Amino acid sequence: MTYEELIKLAKKAKDGSYSPYSHFRVGAALLTADGSVYTGANVECSSYGGTICAERAALVKAVNDGKRDFSAIAIISDAPAPCRPCGICRQMLSDFSPDMAVISASADGSFEQNRLSDLLPHAFNLK
Ligand code: THU
Repeated sequence: MTYEELIKLAKKAKDGSYSPYSHFRVGAALLTADGSVYTGANVECSSYGGTICAERAALVKAVNDGKRDFSAIAIISDAPAPCRPCGICRQMLSDFSPDMAVISASADGSFEQNRLSDLLPHAFNLK
């Protein structure tokens, strides 16, 4: 699976966004270490803090399915800038795979690539 293919899946997942408050649609595609892909889109809540980002939507589906190791996540919105994960998503992804690749795509499909541990250095750790 190339990062371009992963971005395509994230873009398709964006169609599932429920974002009546921000009108900011986000899609994510999470690649597991064993080669499967889980997608998600943001789901907003009228009590705004209850909103679930696209990245965590994908992550909870994968974790509920027994997956624990991830190699990459692609994220895309309708905006021209690369879509980088918010702080909460960085932490939750880092709880599983701190060294995974984060592929932040722009609406035109161009992307930047970062290591999660570079986006969230000195992550919180219970251990
Ligand atoms: N959002 C995501 O889905 N992922 C992020 O990394 C940042 C923000 C969503 C949350 C909310 O529905 C909308 O984008 C605007 O913040």
